[in-house]
Amino acid sequence: MDKGARNLKNLKFHVHTFGCQMNENDSERIAGILSTAGGKISNSPEESDIIIVNTCAVREKSEEKLYSYLGRLATSKKKKKKTIGVVGCVAQLYGSELLEKRPFIDFVLGPDNYNQISEIIHSNHEEKFTSTNWSRDYNEIPHEMTFRESNISAYVTIMEGCNNFCSYCIVPFTRGREKCRPMKKIIQEIQCLADKGYKEIQLLGQNVNSYKDPDTKKDFSNLLSEANRAEGIEWIRFITSHPKNFTKNIATTMKDTEKVCHQLHLPVQAGSSSVLKRMNRGYTREEYLEKITLLRSLMPDISLSTDIIAGFPGETEEEFLETLSILEEVRFNNIFSFRYSPRPLTVACQEKDTVPFEEKKRRLIEVQNLQKKIQLELNNSLIGQVMKVLCSGKSKKTPRLYSGRNEGYQVVNFKSKNNVIGRFVDVRITSCGPYSLHGEAVKQ
Ligand code: 5AD
Ligand code: SF4
Repeated sequence: MDKGARNLKNLKFHVHTFGCQMNENDSERIAGILSTAGGKISNSPEESDIIIVNTCAVREKSEEKLYSYLGRLATSKKKKKKTIGVVGCVAQLYGSELLEKRPFIDFVLGPDNYNQISEIIHSNHEEKFTSTNWSRDYNEIPHEMTFRESNISAYVTIMEGCNNFCSYCIVPFTRGREKCRPMKKIIQEIQCLADKGYKEIQLLGQNVNSYKDPDTKKDFSNLLSEANRAEGIEWIRFITSHPKNFTKNIATTMKDTEKVCHQLHLPVQAGSSSVLKRMNRGYTREEYLEKITLLRSLMPDISLSTDIIAGFPGETEEEFLETLSILEEVRFNNIFSFRYSPRPLTVACQEKDTVPFEEKKRRLIEVQNLQKKIQLELNNSLIGQVMKVLCSGKSKKTPRLYSGRNEGYQVVNFKSKNNVIGRFVDVRITSCGPYSLHGEAVKQ
């Protein structure tokens, strides 16, 4: 590759993100590198000179969506010369194979290789480039560079990778082993966000509960207590927790640490202990339910959400009914539910799958219908209440309304006479649907 460095001045770039919050934060960091090099962010891939596609491999569907997006980019590259980089989990998984199959791609970078971006872009891209090396430590990109979508709520990555090898999950193969970021760096970033006026932070990692500071060995509870000190930050959230590593100590810290929201995403995946065993989740239905009981005894107002996989290989009707019954028993405030999708390299994809595709679909619909009914009931019981909402902007669907989230991370759309974007507002709930609450700002 030609080493003749070139500045990105006057070049437009676009970052397209598939997948989870971790990818969203990585894209913000990549956008930061490109804009620090002089590039101008653009919403339009057609008009851009550089396009970075940050990919997700967690389910087949996300890969399919990626390939159709890449097809559109190939067409637009015929009209205007551009550099196309594919990064993230699919990049890590297939590496240079992506370049061979899709010659319009210029470079491929796995998640541990983002600090090479500016070097690649500064050269003149005559040669194709792939880097999918693993690093043992967390890859620090100066946080000041991060080009954040929001100036109210910010993601802060605290660890990356996963050691759990749930039998269905590709993440340990695409993100590698757990790497924790030094607590000093995390706290510096949070402090800097507080100084800039951010109100909320969301700590990110595949398994945040197993966080350990590589320097001091302080744990996740210690990190929450430290983060709590950042003046100006009012809400602290974290995602994702693993029930196996979610301890009584963390629950107690959540209760005792003033800024930590009473909200938890605790993926259960299935309601049957035998399925959980085959998933290699490391807990039983009963152990999961004990943690929920503990959480509710400490924080009766806690808002809970979960992930569900319907139609795991070999899941019998009886086992599936246990998933429905755990939804009835816990009554989560929100769930994310998926049809099982076989992923390369995983243990589950090598097993014989006795659950037909149509049956997986039926089970998923049953899960979603039941949950919709539960959420509608739960949300209806909130009508008349006044709750604190952090307003993030105008509602996309109904621009005359403001939109935000409450402490439980539920979407609240509301009327307000004043512009309250970026502020905490007391909102009286007047009506609801299964997926959002509606109300009006209380006079302040
Ligand atoms: N099939 C379906 N869902 C999956 N998830 C992870 N791997 C798979 C798979 N192979 C879901 C899990 C996880 C969420 C991020 O994605 O529910 O918690
Ligand atoms: Fe995947 Fe399990 Fe790790 Fe979560 S804990 S990223 S589901 S392997």
